[in-house]
Amino acid sequence: MKIAIIGFGGMAGHHLNHIIPRYNDANVGEKVEVKGVYDIKSERRQAARDLGLVAYGSPEEIWKDDEVEAVVIATPNDMHLPYTEEAARHGKHVISEKPASNSELLVSKMYEAAEKYGIVFTPHQNRRWDCDYLTMKEILDSDVLGRVYRIESRVMGSNGIPGDWRKIDAQGGGMMLDWGVHLIDQALLMTDAKVVSVDCSYSYEEKEEVEDGFDLEIVFENDISYRIVVDTNTFVSLPRWQMYGLNGTACINDWKLNGKIVTCLQRFDDKLEGIKAGNGFTKTMADRRKETVKESPIVPATVRAWEFYANFVRAIRNGEPTIVKKEQVLRVCHLMDLAKESARRREVIKETF
Ligand SMILES: NC(=O)c1ccc[n+]([C@@H]2O[C@H](COP(=O)([O-])OP(=O)(O)OC[C@H]3O[C@@H](n4cnc5c(N)ncnc54)[C@H](O)[C@@H]3O)[C@@H](O)[C@H]2O)c1
Repeated sequence: MKIAIIGFGGMAGHHLNHIIPRYNDANVGEKVEVKGVYDIKSERRQAARDLGLVAYGSPEEIWKDDEVEAVVIATPNDMHLPYTEEAARHGKHVISEKPASNSELLVSKMYEAAEKYGIVFTPHQNRRWDCDYLTMKEILDSDVLGRVYRIESRVMGSNGIPGDWRKIDAQGGGMMLDWGVHLIDQALLMTDAKVVSVDCSYSYEEKEEVEDGFDLEIVFENDISYRIVVDTNTFVSLPRWQMYGLNGTACINDWKLNGKIVTCLQRFDDKLEGIKAGNGFTKTMADRRKETVKESPIVPATVRAWEFYANFVRAIRNGEPTIVKKEQVLRVCHLMDLAKESARRREVIKETF
């Protein structure tokens, strides 16, 4: 299946050099080949030519190329919708990079266009196949921690908002659309329960017009409170994941999956001794005796990341439903819209969905 890429920047290179070859190497379906690219910048088109790809001079040249069945849209976020509408009108199937677009309303228009012209449309929610996320999901589903009441998912760095367009609101900049869309997608897949409230604050430490980070608390109907933190100005990071259950705690520190699971063998310890802590004394916060807990390593989940392209090809050839479902994408967008509103009003928004 021949495809084209629109917007030949960082993520387009990742599709070309990693994601598509990984799918082709897995030998699980019809091979996908990138025939060519269109980028608004001539130097990026030249870079494509240098790689032996077709450099289309305009999007129309892609629409007219009958060999090209689908496009990957990897432009700044504000262009995902117009290119999807154009592609759909010309009968090309679409993978849109995330976030599909800047709001729930705009994303519904993408689905409307796809449905009107009968094309396959899917946002690329690739972090559903992140090993750290899948491992935490397995831990939750295994019940090893007992009733889980709190999950914390953080990504932290010190490099600020990257690049140019990510700093511009009209282009879909800001860390909510950049990272929030992934981490909220993971949160909504982690549990089947409905969301009952959303509480979010944005940070503007870099004094840009868009947020350079945010702190979001989602409460689910099953009493799990789920915190998502994105921070671009922290030089010492907190763990990527913490999951708290009545019978134990799981922690993944970093992308290499360093971490552990500590479960409880004896909840109340009558031999517990107090410790000097700061200028005081505490038993409550003293380390447990090691006989009362069990420490287990993190066992990484099996990841089949090639499933995304395999599903896309089967959706085109056999009408298989897309793995990334419309109702899931719209629910993530709805939550992002509420988070933005919560941050603006500095209020908790109570809504069940
Ligand atoms: N799924 C992921 O893990 C992931 C990671 C990074 C980026 N992304 C997404 O990929 C998209 C691109 O991000 P990036 O980091 O590659 O950005 P980038 O700035 O590196 O690349 C964007 C490219 O689009 C081109 N472009 C700009 N306007 C255009 C237009 N109107 N028509 C055609 N080309 C145009 C630019 O010249 C540039 O080459 C964004 O939507 C981003 O959110 C996804």
